[in-house]
Amino acid sequence: MSFDLVLFGGTGDLAWRKLMPALFQAFRHGTLPQHGRIIGVGRDDLSDDQYRAQIRARFDDVELAKRPSAEEFSRFAALLEFVRMDLSRPDDYARLTAALAQRHADTVVMYVATAPSLFTTVCEQLAVAGLNTPQTRVVLEKPLGHDLASNRAINEAVLKVFGEKQVFRIDHYLGKPAVQNLFALRFGNALFEPLWRREHIANIQITIAEELGVEKRGAFYETTGALRDMVQNHALQLLCAIGMEPPINSHADAIRDEKLKVLRSLKPWTPEALTQDVIRGQYSAGTIGGSPVAAYREEAGVSPQSHTETFVALRTEISNWRWAGVPFYIRTGKRLAGRDARIVVNFRPTPHAIFNSQIGVANRLVINLQPKDGLELHLLAQGQNNRQSTSASAQTLLPVQLDLDFDKRFGTERVGAYERLLLDVIDGRLNLFVRSDEQIEAWRWVEPILEHWKNDMQGPRLYAAGTWGPSASSAMIARDGYCWAEEC
Ligand code: BG6
Repeated sequence: MSFDLVLFGGTGDLAWRKLMPALFQAFRHGTLPQHGRIIGVGRDDLSDDQYRAQIRARFDDVELAKRPSAEEFSRFAALLEFVRMDLSRPDDYARLTAALAQRHADTVVMYVATAPSLFTTVCEQLAVAGLNTPQTRVVLEKPLGHDLASNRAINEAVLKVFGEKQVFRIDHYLGKPAVQNLFALRFGNALFEPLWRREHIANIQITIAEELGVEKRGAFYETTGALRDMVQNHALQLLCAIGMEPPINSHADAIRDEKLKVLRSLKPWTPEALTQDVIRGQYSAGTIGGSPVAAYREEAGVSPQSHTETFVALRTEISNWRWAGVPFYIRTGKRLAGRDARIVVNFRPTPHAIFNSQIGVANRLVINLQPKDGLELHLLAQGQNNRQSTSASAQTLLPVQLDLDFDKRFGTERVGAYERLLLDVIDGRLNLFVRSDEQIEAWRWVEPILEHWKNDMQGPRLYAAGTWGPSASSAMIARDGYCWAEEC
């Protein structure tokens, strides 16, 4: 099968940081189908060789193990071409048409890694140029819109030109190996299924914590914020993976139908819940890894009076028979105490205590997404200090942990998120991509929060960089009688 992968935004940040390294890994692993071309598109006047040289130079920033040798790069570079285009100029699309007409590949992937404001234009112009053939797939990077209305507008424009099955909306969290394993844990094993419900689960906590600040993306982040950047997409997709019913099979629509039902079941916001159950924060100066870091308001491209949130913690529920009444807590933020993405499932305690006492937490399943990738099952056991005990009531239980490390188990050559997703696009597998109705539902749920914040002049609560966010986030969860996993 031959393919042409057209990378709009071919000289942009995403291309350098994520897409090219991922394509190279697939090439190195021998999983990138043969007879492929990768056509970078950008405004610069570059020859193919100049483009290859730029990419070669950028690989110096990639971690050593993932950098190509000179010999590997020269083979990889043979796939790379460059087409100069100003995407807003209809005439320029003729250049792309000419490049694609050179060989009429079996599959053409249009990867739109540009500013979202160009998504509609690119799709429309592809249609005008007759490039929306049945062999074409279009990949759209997030953010897909800024709110419900803009998301709808983009999706409508794209779906005028391409069928839903040709549209691959990326949420790179779905490509992470740990998220694949979450599906495997739930739907490849029967062990947890009987327990995976309100009768046995007390609460579920989804944390996506970053140590990084906004880096060079201050201007973008200023108009985006953590709710749009992380919650509307990544965190809600994780919530779907945790909360969905088993799909009837592994086909894309069977999975997406179930995720959609979760999004539709999210408890609607009330004015009271918006005030009490959603906490927004913004980092002030602090310390990360022993080094001082600046406040968000001092970052380049950020207003000194900014009200943009760099942290969100919220409580929601999935209103259906399986989950009614179980709190789902979502928390994400920049400049937090560690880089740590995990889902903690806290099971209910024993209904009746026969042991003397217990130290520490148990009844907990932790799904580590990153930097660790694996599962921890926290249980209670009798420690050595109980040797003299004669009766159960005199015994103290201690926490122990079953620890499964997928990186160790499966080796270091695991497929990264973008590598997996790019291969899926080329092969036409939609399982790990988001359907338009899911996106619309997620925006619909997020929108009341955005509206509420617009009218709330207090702005976000400040938290020192290097902490776990504003104390109000702990107070929110404490109201239910629980605490964040690192606190108890
Ligand atoms: C992106 C956000 O979608 O995800 C970034 O725009 C964030 O702000 C990134 O840093 C986090 O991804 P990962 O894979 O590093 O957890």
